[in-house]
Amino acid sequence: MRVALLALAAFGLAGAQMGMSGEEEEMLEELGVTGTPMGRKNQEPKAPAVKSDLPYIRCEVCRRAVELAYAHAKDKLDKRFKHKAKRRNEFTQFEGEAEIQEFIEKVCVVDKPDGPGEWIRRTDLISDGDKLVLYDTGAAGHCERECRTIEQACDEVVDAADTDFSEALYEGAKQGLDLEKVQRMVCNRSAKVCKTKPPPLSPDRIDYPFRAMTDDEKHMADMMANLKSSGMGGTMYRREDLMKGMDGLTAKFGEMTGIDPEADSDGLAEGVGEEA
Ligand SMILES: *[C@@H]1O[C@H](CO)[C@@H](O)[C@H](O)[C@H]1NC(C)=O
Repeated sequence: MRVALLALAAFGLAGAQMGMSGEEEEMLEELGVTGTPMGRKNQEPKAPAVKSDLPYIRCEVCRRAVELAYAHAKDKLDKRFKHKAKRRNEFTQFEGEAEIQEFIEKVCVVDKPDGPGEWIRRTDLISDGDKLVLYDTGAAGHCERECRTIEQACDEVVDAADTDFSEALYEGAKQGLDLEKVQRMVCNRSAKVCKTKPPPLSPDRIDYPFRAMTDDEKHMADMMANLKSSGMGGTMYRREDLMKGMDGLTAKFGEMTGIDPEADSDGLAEGVGEEA
């Protein structure tokens, strides 16, 4: 108990803590300290995609993904092609392709903060007459059903276009082709999602309103996504809550542990050393 208490004190002084054991979390809960679940723990399940919306958006999602990826590819390759004009080097050429490939692999990834797939979080699906269109709200939203629908459509078109996607971007950048032409190569010809028009959209289609995130929510979501990708999880506690729990603990076990509740952080840190 003493070790746990001291560890708790050290973390409490540092602010937030992660990676506490389940037992320690339970102990805090008993003391009335509540924390925020982080990373993989207690994650809300993903909202399901709206399958009936998919046929209406695949073409536009494809064209949008190509637009983003082509801008990135041109940016990366312009330098390389100029470089190559001076020194013929197969290796730099290959490297450029790998970079394009990497961008394409991430262009549909919603849960990576500020990554290539961030556009999906900003996009709302709205009906425009008998069509369903993508609307860029300019702000990140909660990733609910429409967001997951766009994500799925995006995955599907990237899978369908396969290696043609990166090749089209590479050739497009090399030959200085218009975006429209590259979109046609990828979406009309390879993924084949723009060849036929979808049927008219039903006026009864259910719309899921876009919910923008507040700065705090965005910050928290980004932090959780980063923790998750780094393999960390656990519960995060506010310093004040931890200190409250500390008071409870020292009142309860003060005599047993011999800890002076008034002791400063240096004293506690020394205690940890002795214990270990
Ligand atoms: C490619 O798809 C776009 C979008 O649907 C369409 O406007 C265009 O006519 C198509 N181009 C060809 C050559 O099929």
